[in-house]
Amino acid sequence: MAAALRRTFPVATLAAGARRTSAGRKPGSLADSCLADRRLWDQLHAHPRLGSVPTFDWFFGFEEAQGLLMPFLQEAKAASPARVLDVGCGTSSLCTGLYTKCPHPVDVLGVDFSPVAVAHMNSLLEGNQDQRPLCPGHPASRLRFMQADAQNLEPVASTGSFHLILDKGTWDAVARGGLPGAHQLLSECLRVLSPQGTLIQFSDEDPDVRLPCLEQASQGWTVSVQELGPFRGITYFAYLVQGSH
Ligand SMILES: C[S@@+](CC[C@H](N)C(=O)[O-])C[C@H]1O[C@@H](n2cnc3c(N)ncnc32)[C@H](O)[C@@H]1O
Repeated sequence: MAAALRRTFPVATLAAGARRTSAGRKPGSLADSCLADRRLWDQLHAHPRLGSVPTFDWFFGFEEAQGLLMPFLQEAKAASPARVLDVGCGTSSLCTGLYTKCPHPVDVLGVDFSPVAVAHMNSLLEGNQDQRPLCPGHPASRLRFMQADAQNLEPVASTGSFHLILDKGTWDAVARGGLPGAHQLLSECLRVLSPQGTLIQFSDEDPDVRLPCLEQASQGWTVSVQELGPFRGITYFAYLVQGSH
């Protein structure tokens, strides 16, 4: 498998050690042609997981992200439960971590266009032969996984309905198929985001590349960036797109 797609367990990076950019990919690389292709993701998500770890995270997992995420859920507590959407959730630990560890009521929806990823997460949620069903951190919390194209969330999400939207590596994957697709993904996220809500894109892409893209496509919203990590030697970024608070 090409270096750009190297999967290291339990986390993976799209950059395989070197920073990638939304523009200027190496022409003809596997990363260029396939990362926006659902069939490739079905294959990757069907890859067996090592040992007893039931989730697989790109970049980093819930443990590393929770310090940033929890204050947003605390803030959204008045909405009880806070509605959270993870676009391109894959088989990551973000949704399950929020559901099982958040002490406030949360209503979490993970969507991915890969039916393989969605089936895996549903079996994890409901429990299977080896594992018990997941238990919520708050009795009023909810977790669902649905197959959906994050570039068209119309069938699963109504306008302005989520307080927090998470995108960990999904813009990065979609942008490999061209920036118009990534802009469509962003536009859908902003459509379903509450006017007081926050979209967080987690990525290893440099701010000098990502920020201009986000600023241009998120007019009327406030865009900022925070450094995360380093985790296992790599510094990541949380790109925040926020409405009025
Ligand atoms: C780099 S992986 C990140 C997965 C997960 N968020 C994580 O952090 O481990 C990108 C994910 O986006 C999904 N994806 C790519 N394009 C998508 C689209 N148009 N709609 C929904 N999911 C998509 C893939 O199936 C894959 O699960």
